[in-house]
Amino acid sequence: MAFSKLFTSVACALALVSVSTGAPANISSSSLLASAVSSTGSSLATASTSDLSTATSSAPPTYETDPPASDDPNYVAWTPGYTGTPEPMRGSLGSNVIGPQNIPLDLQNPDILAPPTTDHGSVGSAKWPFSLSPNRLQTGGWARQQNSAVLPIAKELAGVDMRLEAGAIRELHWHTASEWAYVLKGSVQVTAVDQLGRNFVGTANAGDLWFFPPGIPHSLQATNATEYGSEFLLVFDSGSFDEDGTFLITDWLAHVPKEVIAKNFQASISAFDEIPGQELYIFPAASPGPDNDFPTSPYGTVPLPYTFAMSQMPATPLSGGSVKIVDSHIFNISTTTAVAEVTVEPGAMRELHWHPTQDEWTYFLEGNARVTIFAAQSNAQTFDFQGGDIGYVPAANGHYVENTGNTTLRFLEIFKTATFQDVSLAQWLALIPPAMVKETLNLDDETIAHISKVKQIVVGPANSTSTNTTTA
Ligand SMILES: *[C@@H]1O[C@H](CO)[C@@H](O)[C@H](O)[C@H]1NC(C)=O
Ligand SMILES: *[C@@H]1O[C@H](CO)[C@@H](O)[C@H](O)[C@H]1NC(C)=O
Ligand SMILES: *[C@@H]1O[C@H](CO)[C@@H](O)[C@H](O)[C@H]1NC(C)=O
Ligand SMILES: *[C@@H]1O[C@H](CO)[C@@H](O)[C@H](O)[C@H]1NC(C)=O
Ligand SMILES: *[C@@H]1O[C@H](CO)[C@@H](O)[C@H](O)[C@H]1NC(C)=O
Ligand SMILES: *[C@@H]1O[C@H](CO)[C@@H](O)[C@H](O)[C@H]1NC(C)=O
Repeated sequence: MAFSKLFTSVACALALVSVSTGAPANISSSSLLASAVSSTGSSLATASTSDLSTATSSAPPTYETDPPASDDPNYVAWTPGYTGTPEPMRGSLGSNVIGPQNIPLDLQNPDILAPPTTDHGSVGSAKWPFSLSPNRLQTGGWARQQNSAVLPIAKELAGVDMRLEAGAIRELHWHTASEWAYVLKGSVQVTAVDQLGRNFVGTANAGDLWFFPPGIPHSLQATNATEYGSEFLLVFDSGSFDEDGTFLITDWLAHVPKEVIAKNFQASISAFDEIPGQELYIFPAASPGPDNDFPTSPYGTVPLPYTFAMSQMPATPLSGGSVKIVDSHIFNISTTTAVAEVTVEPGAMRELHWHPTQDEWTYFLEGNARVTIFAAQSNAQTFDFQGGDIGYVPAANGHYVENTGNTTLRFLEIFKTATFQDVSLAQWLALIPPAMVKETLNLDDETIAHISKVKQIVVGPANSTSTNTTTA
Protein backbone atom coordinates (compact mmCIF):
# COMPACT_ATOMS: atom_id res chain seq x y z
CA MET A 1 0.00 0.00 0.00
CA ALA A 2 1.35 3.39 -0.97
CA PHE A 3 0.74 4.79 2.45
CA SER A 4 2.91 2.30 4.27
CA LYS A 5 5.66 2.65 1.70
CA LEU A 6 5.75 6.41 2.17
CA PHE A 7 5.52 5.99 5.91
CA THR A 8 8.38 3.50 5.99
CA SER A 9 10.70 5.46 3.77
CA VAL A 10 10.22 8.61 5.83
CA ALA A 11 10.85 6.65 9.02
CA CYS A 12 13.97 5.18 7.46
CA ALA A 13 15.23 8.51 6.21
CA LEU A 14 14.87 9.83 9.73
CA ALA A 15 16.70 6.82 11.13
CA LEU A 16 19.50 7.46 8.64
CA VAL A 17 19.69 11.12 9.65
CA SER A 18 20.11 10.14 13.28
CA VAL A 19 22.68 7.48 12.43
CA SER A 20 24.69 9.79 10.20
CA THR A 21 25.17 12.32 13.00
CA GLY A 22 27.26 9.64 14.69
CA ALA A 23 26.16 10.95 18.07
CA PRO A 24 23.32 10.13 20.40
CA ALA A 25 20.17 12.16 19.71
CA ASN A 26 20.21 15.44 21.60
CA ILE A 27 18.08 18.53 21.69
CA SER A 28 19.21 19.98 18.40
CA SER A 29 19.15 16.75 16.44
CA SER A 30 15.84 15.59 17.87
CA SER A 31 14.12 18.91 17.33
CA LEU A 32 15.41 18.78 13.78
CA LEU A 33 13.83 15.36 13.42
CA ALA A 34 10.59 16.41 15.04
CA SER A 35 10.18 19.35 12.70
CA ALA A 36 11.04 17.16 9.69
CA VAL A 37 8.30 14.80 10.75
CA SER A 38 5.67 17.44 11.32
CA SER A 39 6.39 19.12 7.99
CA THR A 40 5.99 15.86 6.05
CA GLY A 41 3.20 14.52 8.25
CA SER A 42 0.36 16.54 6.76
CA SER A 43 1.18 15.75 3.13
CA LEU A 44 1.40 12.08 4.06
CA ALA A 45 -2.03 12.13 5.59
CA THR A 46 -3.46 13.76 2.46
CA ALA A 47 -1.79 11.25 0.17
CA SER A 48 -3.00 8.30 2.17
CA THR A 49 -6.59 9.49 2.28
CA SER A 50 -6.90 9.99 -1.46
CA ASP A 51 -5.09 6.75 -2.09
CA LEU A 52 -7.41 4.84 0.18
CA SER A 53 -10.53 6.13 -1.53
CA THR A 54 -9.60 4.03 -4.58
CA ALA A 55 -8.52 0.99 -2.58
CA THR A 56 -10.20 -2.38 -3.02
CA SER A 57 -12.84 -3.50 -0.56
CA SER A 58 -10.31 -5.78 1.17
CA ALA A 59 -8.21 -2.83 2.30
CA PRO A 60 -8.94 -1.67 5.83
CA PRO A 61 -10.88 1.61 5.52
CA THR A 62 -9.76 2.77 8.92
CA TYR A 63 -7.41 5.68 8.13
CA GLU A 64 -10.16 8.11 7.26
CA THR A 65 -11.58 8.02 10.77
CA ASP A 66 -8.60 6.75 12.76
CA PRO A 67 -5.40 8.55 11.80
CA PRO A 68 -2.19 6.56 12.32
CA ALA A 69 -0.06 7.17 15.37
CA SER A 70 2.48 9.99 15.07
CA ASP A 71 5.63 9.01 13.20
CA ASP A 72 7.80 11.17 15.46
CA PRO A 73 10.45 8.68 16.66
CA ASN A 74 10.57 10.50 20.01
CA TYR A 75 14.25 9.86 20.69
CA VAL A 76 15.32 10.74 24.19
CA ALA A 77 15.82 14.52 24.14
CA TRP A 78 19.40 14.41 25.48
CA THR A 79 21.66 11.57 26.53
CA PRO A 80 24.19 11.15 29.36
CA GLY A 81 27.19 13.39 28.86
CA TYR A 82 25.18 16.21 27.28
CA THR A 83 26.67 19.44 28.58
CA GLY A 84 24.23 22.04 27.21
CA THR A 85 21.27 23.49 29.08
CA PRO A 86 18.37 21.03 29.18
CA GLU A 87 15.21 22.70 27.83
CA PRO A 88 11.58 21.60 27.96
CA MET A 89 11.27 21.67 24.19
CA ARG A 90 10.49 19.13 21.48
CA GLY A 91 10.29 20.40 17.93
CA SER A 92 7.79 23.24 17.93
CA LEU A 93 6.42 22.24 21.34
CA GLY A 94 7.40 23.82 24.63
CA SER A 95 9.74 26.68 25.39
CA ASN A 96 12.85 27.35 27.39
CA VAL A 97 12.97 27.76 31.17
CA ILE A 98 13.31 31.43 32.17
CA GLY A 99 12.79 30.93 35.91
CA PRO A 100 15.13 29.08 38.25
CA GLN A 101 16.25 25.66 37.06
CA ASN A 102 17.88 22.68 38.80
CA ILE A 103 20.05 21.77 35.84
CA PRO A 104 21.73 18.61 37.23
CA LEU A 105 18.30 17.14 38.01
CA ASP A 106 16.90 18.14 34.61
CA LEU A 107 19.90 16.58 32.87
CA GLN A 108 19.09 13.30 34.62
CA ASN A 109 15.43 13.39 33.66
CA PRO A 110 15.06 14.32 29.97
CA ASP A 111 11.79 12.42 29.63
CA ILE A 112 10.22 14.35 32.48
CA LEU A 113 11.34 17.81 31.34
CA ALA A 114 10.84 17.11 27.61
CA PRO A 115 8.52 14.08 27.50
CA PRO A 116 7.97 12.13 24.31
CA THR A 117 4.78 13.22 22.53
CA THR A 118 3.44 9.71 23.20
CA ASP A 119 3.19 10.46 26.94
CA HIS A 120 -0.32 11.37 28.04
CA GLY A 121 -2.37 11.76 31.21
CA SER A 122 -0.86 10.54 34.43
CA VAL A 123 0.66 7.38 35.83
CA GLY A 124 1.87 8.86 39.10
CA SER A 125 5.50 9.20 40.14
CA ALA A 126 7.27 5.86 39.57
CA LYS A 127 10.82 6.90 40.43
CA TRP A 128 12.62 7.32 43.70
CA PRO A 129 16.40 7.82 43.97
CA PHE A 130 17.91 6.56 47.23
CA SER A 131 19.79 9.90 47.12
CA LEU A 132 16.57 11.54 48.38
CA SER A 133 15.99 9.06 51.24
CA PRO A 134 16.85 10.44 54.69
CA ASN A 135 19.90 8.52 55.88
CA ARG A 136 20.38 7.04 59.35
CA LEU A 137 24.07 7.32 60.20
CA GLN A 138 25.45 4.99 62.86
CA THR A 139 28.96 4.09 64.02
CA GLY A 140 29.86 1.31 61.59
CA GLY A 141 27.43 2.08 58.78
CA TRP A 142 24.17 3.58 57.66
CA ALA A 143 20.74 2.73 56.26
CA ARG A 144 18.25 4.60 54.07
CA GLN A 145 14.85 3.41 52.94
CA GLN A 146 12.14 3.82 50.34
CA ASN A 147 8.57 2.87 51.15
CA SER A 148 5.08 3.97 50.16
CA ALA A 149 5.42 7.08 52.37
CA VAL A 150 7.82 8.56 49.80
CA LEU A 151 6.68 6.63 46.69
CA PRO A 152 2.93 6.10 47.04
CA ILE A 153 2.61 3.98 43.87
CA ALA A 154 4.83 1.31 45.54
CA LYS A 155 2.15 -0.56 47.47
CA GLU A 156 3.55 -4.10 47.41
CA LEU A 157 7.27 -3.78 48.12
CA ALA A 158 9.70 -1.49 49.94
CA GLY A 159 13.50 -1.25 49.92
CA VAL A 160 16.46 -0.40 52.12
CA ASP A 161 20.04 0.38 51.08
CA MET A 162 22.37 -0.60 53.94
CA ARG A 163 26.10 -0.16 54.48
CA LEU A 164 28.13 -2.07 57.08
CA GLU A 165 31.86 -1.54 57.58
CA ALA A 166 33.96 -4.70 57.91
CA GLY A 167 32.79 -6.46 61.07
CA ALA A 168 29.83 -4.13 61.67
CA ILE A 169 26.56 -5.78 62.72
CA ARG A 170 22.93 -5.05 61.89
CA GLU A 171 21.74 -6.37 65.21
CA LEU A 172 19.64 -9.47 65.93
CA HIS A 173 16.08 -8.68 64.92
CA TRP A 174 12.90 -9.81 63.20
CA HIS A 175 9.89 -8.22 61.47
CA THR A 176 6.45 -8.95 60.08
CA ALA A 177 7.52 -8.70 56.41
CA SER A 178 9.76 -11.16 54.60
CA GLU A 179 13.30 -9.91 53.86
CA TRP A 180 15.05 -10.50 50.54
CA ALA A 181 18.54 -9.14 49.86
CA TYR A 182 21.00 -8.62 47.03
CA VAL A 183 24.62 -7.95 47.98
CA LEU A 184 25.96 -4.92 46.08
CA LYS A 185 29.57 -5.03 47.33
CA GLY A 186 31.62 -7.09 49.75
CA SER A 187 30.29 -10.01 51.73
CA VAL A 188 27.88 -10.52 54.60
CA GLN A 189 27.53 -13.35 57.10
CA VAL A 190 23.89 -14.02 57.98
CA THR A 191 22.57 -16.13 60.84
CA ALA A 192 19.06 -17.31 61.69
CA VAL A 193 17.09 -19.84 63.74
CA ASP A 194 13.66 -21.02 62.67
CA GLN A 195 10.56 -21.81 64.73
CA LEU A 196 11.64 -25.47 65.06
CA GLY A 197 15.07 -24.62 66.46
CA ARG A 198 16.90 -25.41 63.20
CA ASN A 199 19.78 -22.98 62.69
CA PHE A 200 21.56 -21.45 59.74
CA VAL A 201 24.76 -19.57 59.02
CA GLY A 202 25.86 -18.58 55.55
CA THR A 203 27.87 -15.98 53.68
CA ALA A 204 26.52 -13.99 50.73
CA ASN A 205 29.02 -12.30 48.40
CA ALA A 206 28.49 -9.53 45.82
CA GLY A 207 25.66 -10.60 43.49
CA ASP A 208 24.30 -13.21 45.97
CA LEU A 209 20.94 -13.28 47.74
CA TRP A 210 19.44 -14.05 51.10
CA PHE A 211 15.83 -14.47 52.17
CA PHE A 212 14.16 -14.66 55.59
CA PRO A 213 10.47 -15.57 55.88
CA PRO A 214 8.34 -13.21 58.03
CA GLY A 215 9.13 -13.34 61.74
CA ILE A 216 12.34 -15.41 61.46
CA PRO A 217 15.01 -13.92 63.80
CA HIS A 218 18.26 -13.09 62.01
CA SER A 219 21.45 -11.02 62.04
CA LEU A 220 23.67 -9.49 59.36
CA GLN A 221 27.40 -8.86 59.74
CA ALA A 222 29.83 -7.60 57.11
CA THR A 223 32.91 -9.81 56.88
CA ASN A 224 36.46 -8.56 56.41
CA ALA A 225 36.75 -10.36 53.02
CA THR A 226 37.13 -6.83 51.71
CA GLU A 227 38.59 -4.05 53.82
CA TYR A 228 35.58 -1.83 53.15
CA GLY A 229 32.96 -4.30 54.41
CA SER A 230 29.67 -4.46 52.53
CA GLU A 231 26.67 -2.64 51.07
CA PHE A 232 23.46 -4.47 50.20
CA LEU A 233 19.90 -3.95 49.03
CA LEU A 234 17.02 -5.22 51.18
CA VAL A 235 13.52 -5.68 49.75
CA PHE A 236 10.44 -6.32 51.90
CA ASP A 237 7.10 -7.73 50.75
CA SER A 238 5.12 -4.81 52.15
CA GLY A 239 4.98 -1.32 50.62
CA SER A 240 4.57 0.28 54.05
CA PHE A 241 7.54 -1.55 55.64
CA ASP A 242 9.48 0.73 57.99
CA GLU A 243 13.12 -0.15 58.72
CA ASP A 244 12.83 1.82 61.96
CA GLY A 245 9.90 -0.37 63.03
CA THR A 246 11.62 -3.76 63.27
CA PHE A 247 11.85 -5.81 66.48
CA LEU A 248 15.36 -5.47 67.94
CA ILE A 249 16.67 -7.75 70.67
CA THR A 250 18.26 -4.87 72.60
CA ASP A 251 15.11 -2.75 72.43
CA TRP A 252 13.05 -5.68 73.71
CA LEU A 253 15.30 -6.58 76.62
CA ALA A 254 15.59 -2.93 77.62
CA HIS A 255 11.83 -3.09 78.10
CA VAL A 256 11.54 -6.30 80.13
CA PRO A 257 11.94 -6.27 83.95
CA LYS A 258 15.40 -7.60 84.85
CA GLU A 259 13.76 -10.05 87.29
CA VAL A 260 11.92 -11.57 84.32
CA ILE A 261 15.06 -11.63 82.13
CA ALA A 262 17.00 -13.44 84.88
CA LYS A 263 14.22 -16.00 85.34
CA ASN A 264 13.95 -16.52 81.57
CA PHE A 265 17.64 -17.33 81.16
CA GLN A 266 17.92 -19.09 84.56
CA ALA A 267 20.70 -16.75 85.70
CA SER A 268 21.31 -14.09 88.29
CA ILE A 269 20.04 -10.55 87.75
CA SER A 270 23.63 -9.26 87.93
CA ALA A 271 24.51 -11.34 84.84
CA PHE A 272 22.49 -8.72 82.90
CA ASP A 273 24.11 -5.63 84.40
CA GLU A 274 25.67 -4.61 81.09
CA ILE A 275 22.85 -5.16 78.57
CA PRO A 276 22.25 -2.03 76.45
CA GLY A 277 19.66 0.42 77.71
CA GLN A 278 18.45 1.17 74.18
CA GLU A 279 18.65 -0.35 70.71
CA LEU A 280 22.02 -0.69 68.95
CA TYR A 281 20.65 -1.17 65.41
CA ILE A 282 24.04 -0.92 63.59
CA PHE A 283 27.29 -1.12 65.56
CA PRO A 284 30.96 -1.98 65.00
CA ALA A 285 32.36 -5.36 66.04
CA ALA A 286 35.22 -7.79 65.36
CA SER A 287 34.84 -9.57 62.01
CA PRO A 288 32.87 -12.83 62.21
CA GLY A 289 34.62 -16.19 62.35
CA PRO A 290 34.19 -18.75 59.56
CA ASP A 291 30.73 -20.20 58.80
CA ASN A 292 31.66 -23.57 60.30
CA ASP A 293 32.42 -21.95 63.67
CA PHE A 294 28.78 -22.35 64.71
CA PRO A 295 26.82 -24.28 67.39
CA THR A 296 25.25 -27.59 66.39
CA SER A 297 21.48 -27.63 66.84
CA PRO A 298 19.88 -30.81 68.18
CA TYR A 299 17.22 -30.13 65.51
CA GLY A 300 19.71 -29.78 62.64
CA THR A 301 20.08 -26.96 60.17
CA VAL A 302 17.22 -25.43 58.17
CA PRO A 303 16.28 -27.73 55.24
CA LEU A 304 16.05 -24.85 52.75
CA PRO A 305 19.09 -22.53 52.88
CA TYR A 306 18.47 -18.83 53.51
CA THR A 307 21.23 -17.77 51.07
CA PHE A 308 21.60 -18.31 47.32
CA ALA A 309 24.84 -17.92 45.32
CA MET A 310 23.32 -16.01 42.42
CA SER A 311 26.77 -14.64 41.51
CA GLN A 312 27.84 -18.19 40.61
CA MET A 313 24.87 -18.74 38.29
CA PRO A 314 25.58 -18.30 34.56
CA ALA A 315 23.48 -15.58 32.89
CA THR A 316 21.38 -16.57 29.88
CA PRO A 317 22.75 -14.66 26.86
CA LEU A 318 20.19 -12.71 24.83
CA SER A 319 20.46 -10.79 21.56
CA GLY A 320 20.71 -7.44 23.39
CA GLY A 321 22.07 -8.46 26.80
CA SER A 322 21.52 -11.21 29.37
CA VAL A 323 19.22 -12.35 32.18
CA LYS A 324 19.35 -14.40 35.37
CA ILE A 325 16.03 -15.34 36.96
CA VAL A 326 15.91 -16.57 40.56
CA ASP A 327 12.60 -17.49 42.16
CA SER A 328 11.38 -20.22 44.53
CA HIS A 329 11.90 -22.90 41.86
CA ILE A 330 15.64 -22.68 42.49
CA PHE A 331 15.86 -20.56 45.68
CA ASN A 332 13.19 -22.67 47.37
CA ILE A 333 12.77 -20.69 50.61
CA SER A 334 12.14 -17.43 48.68
CA THR A 335 8.40 -17.93 48.27
CA THR A 336 7.46 -14.26 48.47
CA THR A 337 10.20 -12.66 46.36
CA ALA A 338 11.48 -13.36 42.84
CA VAL A 339 14.14 -11.51 40.84
CA ALA A 340 15.40 -11.09 37.31
CA GLU A 341 18.87 -9.53 36.99
CA VAL A 342 18.98 -8.04 33.51
CA THR A 343 21.79 -6.53 31.44
CA VAL A 344 21.04 -4.41 28.37
CA GLU A 345 23.81 -3.36 25.99
CA PRO A 346 23.98 0.21 24.59
CA GLY A 347 21.14 0.75 22.10
CA ALA A 348 19.39 -2.45 23.20
CA MET A 349 16.16 -2.74 25.18
CA ARG A 350 14.25 -4.95 27.63
CA GLU A 351 11.34 -5.64 25.29
CA LEU A 352 7.75 -4.34 25.60
CA HIS A 353 6.12 -6.60 28.20
CA TRP A 354 4.11 -6.73 31.40
CA HIS A 355 3.86 -8.89 34.49
CA PRO A 356 0.42 -10.47 34.67
CA THR A 357 -0.27 -10.30 38.41
CA GLN A 358 2.70 -8.69 40.14
CA ASP A 359 3.97 -5.18 40.68
CA GLU A 360 7.63 -4.71 39.73
CA TRP A 361 10.06 -2.98 42.12
CA THR A 362 13.05 -2.12 39.95
CA TYR A 363 16.52 -1.29 41.20
CA PHE A 364 19.06 0.20 38.80
CA LEU A 365 22.61 -1.01 39.44
CA GLU A 366 24.47 0.82 36.65
CA GLY A 367 23.99 2.53 33.30
CA ASN A 368 21.16 4.72 32.02
CA ALA A 369 17.60 3.76 31.18
CA ARG A 370 14.29 5.12 30.09
CA VAL A 371 11.03 3.39 30.88
CA THR A 372 7.53 4.27 29.72
CA ILE A 373 4.72 2.90 31.84
CA PHE A 374 1.39 2.36 30.05
CA ALA A 375 -1.46 2.40 32.57
CA ALA A 376 -4.47 1.99 30.18
CA GLN A 377 -7.02 4.68 29.21
CA SER A 378 -4.32 6.56 27.24
CA ASN A 379 -2.23 7.12 30.36
CA ALA A 380 1.47 6.75 29.65
CA GLN A 381 4.46 8.35 31.37
CA THR A 382 8.19 8.11 30.76
CA PHE A 383 10.93 8.11 33.40
CA ASP A 384 14.74 8.05 33.28
CA PHE A 385 16.93 6.09 35.67
CA GLN A 386 20.55 5.58 36.61
CA GLY A 387 22.45 3.51 39.19
CA GLY A 388 20.96 3.97 42.69
CA ASP A 389 17.43 4.73 41.45
CA ILE A 390 14.28 2.76 42.21
CA GLY A 391 11.49 2.31 39.67
CA TYR A 392 8.02 0.87 40.19
CA VAL A 393 5.61 -0.61 37.64
CA PRO A 394 2.16 -1.73 38.83
CA ALA A 395 0.97 -5.21 37.80
CA ALA A 396 -0.23 -5.58 34.19
CA ASN A 397 1.07 -2.12 33.17
CA GLY A 398 2.91 -2.36 29.84
CA HIS A 399 6.53 -1.14 29.83
CA TYR A 400 10.02 -1.44 28.34
CA VAL A 401 13.51 -0.58 29.65
CA GLU A 402 15.73 1.03 27.03
CA ASN A 403 19.46 1.58 27.45
CA THR A 404 19.90 5.29 26.70
CA GLY A 405 23.59 5.43 27.66
CA ASN A 406 26.81 4.18 26.11
CA THR A 407 27.62 1.62 28.84
CA THR A 408 25.97 -1.65 29.86
CA LEU A 409 22.70 -1.10 31.73
CA ARG A 410 22.18 -3.49 34.65
CA PHE A 411 19.11 -3.67 36.84
CA LEU A 412 17.00 -5.93 39.05
CA GLU A 413 13.29 -6.61 38.50
CA ILE A 414 11.89 -7.71 41.87
CA PHE A 415 8.43 -9.14 42.52
CA LYS A 416 6.37 -10.26 45.51
CA THR A 417 5.77 -13.77 44.20
CA ALA A 418 7.04 -17.36 44.25
CA THR A 419 7.26 -17.51 40.46
CA PHE A 420 8.69 -14.97 38.01
CA GLN A 421 6.25 -14.27 35.15
CA ASP A 422 6.11 -11.89 32.21
CA VAL A 423 4.11 -11.58 29.00
CA SER A 424 5.98 -10.52 25.84
CA LEU A 425 4.09 -8.27 23.43
CA ALA A 426 6.09 -9.59 20.48
CA GLN A 427 5.57 -13.24 21.40
CA TRP A 428 1.85 -12.61 21.79
CA LEU A 429 1.59 -11.12 18.31
CA ALA A 430 3.73 -13.91 16.79
CA LEU A 431 1.52 -16.66 18.18
CA ILE A 432 -1.92 -15.51 17.05
CA PRO A 433 -3.32 -15.57 13.49
CA PRO A 434 -1.39 -13.01 11.38
CA ALA A 435 -4.68 -11.78 9.90
CA MET A 436 -5.72 -10.61 13.37
CA VAL A 437 -2.47 -8.67 13.79
CA LYS A 438 -2.79 -7.21 10.27
CA GLU A 439 -6.38 -6.07 10.77
CA THR A 440 -5.48 -4.45 14.08
CA LEU A 441 -2.12 -2.80 13.43
CA ASN A 442 -2.04 -2.42 9.62
CA LEU A 443 1.35 -4.15 9.44
CA ASP A 444 2.56 -5.81 6.25
CA ASP A 445 3.01 -9.58 6.01
CA GLU A 446 6.79 -9.49 6.13
CA THR A 447 6.90 -7.44 9.31
CA ILE A 448 4.44 -9.83 10.97
CA ALA A 449 6.36 -12.92 9.79
CA HIS A 450 9.54 -11.43 11.26
CA ILE A 451 8.19 -11.16 14.83
CA SER A 452 9.85 -13.74 17.09
CA LYS A 453 7.79 -16.62 18.47
CA VAL A 454 10.55 -17.06 21.05
CA LYS A 455 10.48 -14.59 23.93
CA GLN A 456 13.42 -12.21 23.37
CA ILE A 457 13.45 -10.56 26.84
CA VAL A 458 16.21 -8.13 25.72
CA VAL A 459 16.33 -7.13 22.04
CA GLY A 460 19.32 -5.61 20.26
CA PRO A 461 19.26 -2.22 18.53
CA ALA A 462 16.64 -1.92 15.75
CA ASN A 463 17.86 -3.32 12.44
CA SER A 464 17.52 -0.19 10.35
CA THR A 465 18.65 -1.99 7.17
CA SER A 466 15.63 -4.27 7.33
CA THR A 467 13.01 -1.58 7.93
CA ASN A 468 12.85 -0.54 4.28
CA THR A 469 13.08 -3.98 2.70
CA THR A 470 9.34 -4.49 3.13
CA THR A 471 7.28 -4.69 -0.07
CA ALA A 472 4.31 -2.54 0.74
C1 LIG B 1 23.96 17.45 19.02
O1 LIG B 1 23.68 16.98 17.72
C2 LIG B 1 24.36 17.72 16.74
C3 LIG B 1 23.85 17.24 15.40
O2 LIG B 1 23.83 15.85 15.36
C4 LIG B 1 25.86 17.53 16.92
O3 LIG B 1 26.57 18.27 15.95
C5 LIG B 1 26.26 18.01 18.31
O4 LIG B 1 27.62 17.72 18.54
C6 LIG B 1 25.42 17.31 19.35
N1 LIG B 1 25.68 17.89 20.63
C7 LIG B 1 25.84 17.14 21.71
C8 LIG B 1 26.11 17.91 22.95
O5 LIG B 1 25.78 15.91 21.72
C1 LIG C 1 29.99 7.83 27.04
O1 LIG C 1 29.31 8.80 27.80
C2 LIG C 1 30.11 9.51 28.70
C3 LIG C 1 29.22 10.41 29.50
O2 LIG C 1 28.18 9.69 30.10
C4 LIG C 1 31.15 10.29 27.92
O3 LIG C 1 31.97 10.95 28.84
C5 LIG C 1 31.95 9.34 27.08
O4 LIG C 1 32.84 10.08 26.27
C6 LIG C 1 31.07 8.51 26.19
N1 LIG C 1 31.86 7.51 25.52
C7 LIG C 1 31.69 7.23 24.25
C8 LIG C 1 32.59 6.17 23.68
O5 LIG C 1 30.85 7.79 23.57
C1 LIG D 1 39.30 -11.18 59.46
O1 LIG D 1 38.55 -11.60 60.56
C2 LIG D 1 38.95 -12.85 61.08
C3 LIG D 1 37.96 -13.25 62.16
O2 LIG D 1 37.83 -12.23 63.10
C4 LIG D 1 40.38 -12.76 61.57
O3 LIG D 1 40.80 -14.01 62.03
C5 LIG D 1 41.28 -12.31 60.43
O4 LIG D 1 42.57 -12.10 60.89
C6 LIG D 1 40.75 -11.02 59.80
N1 LIG D 1 41.50 -10.73 58.61
C7 LIG D 1 41.92 -9.50 58.32
C8 LIG D 1 42.66 -9.36 57.03
O5 LIG D 1 41.70 -8.56 59.04
C1 LIG E 1 14.33 -26.84 45.41
O1 LIG E 1 13.26 -27.16 44.57
C2 LIG E 1 13.64 -27.91 43.46
C3 LIG E 1 12.43 -28.03 42.57
O2 LIG E 1 11.30 -28.37 43.30
C4 LIG E 1 14.19 -29.25 43.89
O3 LIG E 1 14.61 -29.99 42.76
C5 LIG E 1 15.37 -29.01 44.82
O4 LIG E 1 15.84 -30.24 45.32
C6 LIG E 1 14.98 -28.11 45.96
N1 LIG E 1 16.16 -27.77 46.72
C7 LIG E 1 16.26 -27.99 48.01
C8 LIG E 1 17.52 -27.54 48.66
O5 LIG E 1 15.35 -28.50 48.67
C1 LIG F 1 19.21 -6.94 9.44
O1 LIG F 1 18.42 -6.98 8.30
C2 LIG F 1 19.06 -7.52 7.15
C3 LIG F 1 18.13 -7.38 5.99
O2 LIG F 1 16.87 -7.87 6.30
C4 LIG F 1 19.41 -8.97 7.45
O3 LIG F 1 20.11 -9.52 6.35
C5 LIG F 1 20.30 -9.03 8.69
O4 LIG F 1 20.54 -10.37 9.04
C6 LIG F 1 19.61 -8.34 9.86
N1 LIG F 1 20.50 -8.29 10.99
C7 LIG F 1 20.13 -8.64 12.21
C8 LIG F 1 21.16 -8.52 13.27
O5 LIG F 1 19.01 -9.04 12.46
C1 LIG G 1 16.87 1.41 2.30
O1 LIG G 1 16.68 2.79 2.07
C2 LIG G 1 17.87 3.45 1.71
C3 LIG G 1 17.59 4.95 1.68
O2 LIG G 1 16.38 5.18 1.01
C4 LIG G 1 18.35 2.93 0.36
O3 LIG G 1 19.55 3.58 -0.02
C5 LIG G 1 18.59 1.43 0.50
O4 LIG G 1 18.94 0.90 -0.75
C6 LIG G 1 17.37 0.74 1.03
N1 LIG G 1 17.69 -0.64 1.32
C7 LIG G 1 16.95 -1.63 0.87
C8 LIG G 1 17.45 -2.97 1.22
O5 LIG G 1 15.94 -1.46 0.23
